[in-house]
Amino acid sequence: MEEKRALISQTPQDILGPEDQAHSLRQYFSPGRETVVVAITSGKGGVGKTNFTANTAYLLAQMGKKVCVLDADLGLANIDVLLGLVPRKTLANVLRGECTMTDIVLEGPGGMAIIPASSGLREMANMGREQQKILADQMASLDGEFDFLFIDTAAGISQQVMAFLAASPQVILITTPEPTAVTDAYAMVKLLNSEYGKRTIYLVVNMVRRYREGEETAGKLSLVVKRFLGEHIKIEHLGSLPYQTDIAISVREQRLYVEKYPDRKFAGLLKEICYKLTDFTLFPGVRGGVSLFAKALMRGLGNK
Ligand SMILES: Nc1ncnc2c1ncn2[C@@H]1O[C@H](COP(=O)(O)OP(=O)(O)O)[C@@H](O)[C@H]1O
Ligand SMILES: [Mg+2]
Repeated sequence: MEEKRALISQTPQDILGPEDQAHSLRQYFSPGRETVVVAITSGKGGVGKTNFTANTAYLLAQMGKKVCVLDADLGLANIDVLLGLVPRKTLANVLRGECTMTDIVLEGPGGMAIIPASSGLREMANMGREQQKILADQMASLDGEFDFLFIDTAAGISQQVMAFLAASPQVILITTPEPTAVTDAYAMVKLLNSEYGKRTIYLVVNMVRRYREGEETAGKLSLVVKRFLGEHIKIEHLGSLPYQTDIAISVREQRLYVEKYPDRKFAGLLKEICYKLTDFTLFPGVRGGVSLFAKALMRGLGNK
């Protein structure tokens, strides 16, 4: 309860240091055959995970990175809808042995790849040995194909969602400054640390309405995490993104906001986050990262 009060208190807590100016000095890395696997999560739904994932994937693709987004949300507001793509086949077909992983990959804006996995998720929860082997082999075929694999997850803490998060070496948590979103974000951090041993969670504060609101929100969350969860878990604030009333318009037009408005501040701020994502000291790529992820995912789903 005390944690909750601290999270929703209105007292500005300027505990973060000055904005890190050093990104321009950071090393840009070319991972070769290594893939950075990152899952995107939140506590509360509707905070902007899918928009963040798709716009980030686009900017990274513009920077010359090969990016793949695995859509792991069973809900309706999926990345394919956001981008106006119509998958003909999905992971469900792969699991039934009807086609290969490369057959289902869709090409999105900027050349990003999208794996429409959500309709295979129900099958994934009950996979037998045969299907596990298919999935493992098919995932392994993607190894080294991409610099980044983003997993766009559903909200909530179902076993499936947690299996995706547990299997991802890196997790980005999205919240808005709203107290309900922040308390749910905290609950997610607590769970990821206590049950899944995560030590660092990367944070993006979305829909910020004032310049300092992002840092205040990140500061508050970090402070409460430090106070109640101790030194075993760290919140790394990657950046904040402003509330844009016209994002809804570009969503309706099924166009990415940063593609439509590449010169707006929103795109500039998201690019700063992309530079951090390409910093291999923060986001190291792993050789065989995709198959390792698939193996861990199957363990998490509780399949033998
Ligand atoms: N920075 C933002 N400013 C304004 N609206 C946003 C912003 N980011 C996302 N949205 C809107 O919030 C809603 C939820 O976004 P979405 O990415 O689908 O969230 P999630 O994937 O977390 O459920 C969408 O209508 C989207 O247009
Ligand atoms: Mg979503």
